[in-house]
Amino acid sequence: MIPVTLKDTEARTAIRRTWGQDGLIPRVTVLHLFVIGQPAQRDPVLQEHLERESKEYGDIIQMDFVDSYHNLTIKTMMIMNWIATYCRGAWYAMKIDADIFLNVRYLVDYLHDQGESSRKDYISGSVISDAVPHRDSFNKWYISEDLYPDTWYPPYVSGAAYVFSTDLARKISWASRFVQPIPLEDVYVGLCLHVLGVKPIYATTFLGLSNLFEVRRLKYERCTFAKRIIVNGFNPQNLLRICTCSISS
Ligand SMILES: *[C@@H]1O[C@H](CO)[C@@H](O)[C@H](O)[C@H]1NC(C)=O
Repeated sequence: MIPVTLKDTEARTAIRRTWGQDGLIPRVTVLHLFVIGQPAQRDPVLQEHLERESKEYGDIIQMDFVDSYHNLTIKTMMIMNWIATYCRGAWYAMKIDADIFLNVRYLVDYLHDQGESSRKDYISGSVISDAVPHRDSFNKWYISEDLYPDTWYPPYVSGAAYVFSTDLARKISWASRFVQPIPLEDVYVGLCLHVLGVKPIYATTFLGLSNLFEVRRLKYERCTFAKRIIVNGFNPQNLLRICTCSISS
């Protein structure tokens, strides 16, 4: 599930041509879906383009809420509901931003190695532990004490990308009834996991030497990228450039 906005046409194209393409992994079905809300200002021309694009590719879900940075938590919860309703046959779901390189093969192998225990109450990514709320109102991640009085956040997975067993979508959605919304979607998912008593799993290589969900930007280097599930920070052109060499092999 890839949250995007109406105008991210280039990013959608790049993903369809790279890690989103069908049949990348033999005997494993991977489906990519773009999730879009409504723009704050109606734009009939862009909307018409989107509907045409949707007819052509069948990979766009448009939901009824105003798409804004502040509403990302709503968006994530709508994604959870959608997965709970329509993806019952799938073992895993992933939420991933559009500006990310995804190594689908490595992801599939990683999940395979996790075994049976990862089919239920499982969520993995780049886990952030010991984070505390930012109380400085100029901070991008500012949270007022009214909204969140506690002095710490429970462990959560970075919102850039995380993967989970599909049963968790329904459970997170249920837990959200008891958690006051805050505009930080990844922390919010962490708060729901805390209600459920589910601990997110830090995805690392054997011995924990490197973070498989690389949230930093790395300079492209074939061997490094072959050993990561995600690498952050790709505009559509860069994604196309590195993937033409790494995916085809
Ligand atoms: C969030 O979405 C709701 C429902 O569409 C909308 O009423 C509200 O204005 C949105 N908030 C922001 C900050 O965009």
